[in-house]
Amino acid sequence: PRFFALVPCAGIGERAGTGGPKQYAPLAGRPLVAHTLHALAGVARLAATLVVLAPGDALFEEAVPGFGGEHQWLARCGGASRAQSVANGLDELLARGALPHDWVLVHDAARGLLRAEWVERLIEACADDEVGGLLALPLADTLKQSSGGRAVATVARGDKWVAQTPQMFRLGLLRPALAHAGDAVTDEASAIEALGHAPKLVQGDAENFKLTWPGDFALAERLLGTR
Ligand code: CTP
Ligand code: MG
Repeated sequence: PRFFALVPCAGIGERAGTGGPKQYAPLAGRPLVAHTLHALAGVARLAATLVVLAPGDALFEEAVPGFGGEHQWLARCGGASRAQSVANGLDELLARGALPHDWVLVHDAARGLLRAEWVERLIEACADDEVGGLLALPLADTLKQSSGGRAVATVARGDKWVAQTPQMFRLGLLRPALAHAGDAVTDEASAIEALGHAPKLVQGDAENFKLTWPGDFALAERLLGTR
């Protein structure tokens, strides 16, 4: 089987407040998504990377000049939800010759601090797995059950993990799983779980966070400054 990356890049970035889609907001002198794609370009085992843009996107080509070619694909097939953007991207991969037993690594455009070695760790851990898996981190903080703004119980955290991306599954499993799950799922693993499968949890990294809020850009710049 081959390995394909699929990068949903069609959101509006409402929470980040960057005055436009956050994936194009500057981070240490380059647009956020340029960092993401630079990291993926360092993963030798990827056969191709497909970036899913909103249909009317007029910013990508200036944000990542030079992206495109035999192993770098663009599709303007973004949908109303992340799940729909990914589902449409899977159709595009099929149209470009990907096969059901090929692996798809879905990675958020907004996780711009990605390192190639983390992607390779995921591939190593899952390439022989029946189901596939995801980068994730064991929950570090104490977890509270809230009711009316008060903590009413403390939830055991020993078995709780925080999901990251990439998340890697076979095209032939992920496509029907997303079709079955609908728009509400916020990651691929939840769609796979809903079919009764148990994706493998592979150690991620705290730096692999999703830039979501305004302050995340300053934090990411500080981290990049230490690399
Ligand atoms: N995404 C997408 N299509 C959508 C919504 C999101 O491709 N309809 C992508 C985003 O571009 C991002 C990733 O999915 O790379 C993770 O989503 P999120 O962090 O929620 O980004 P946004 O939806 O853009 O942000 P917000 O929810 O704050 O509006
Ligand atoms: Mg969103």
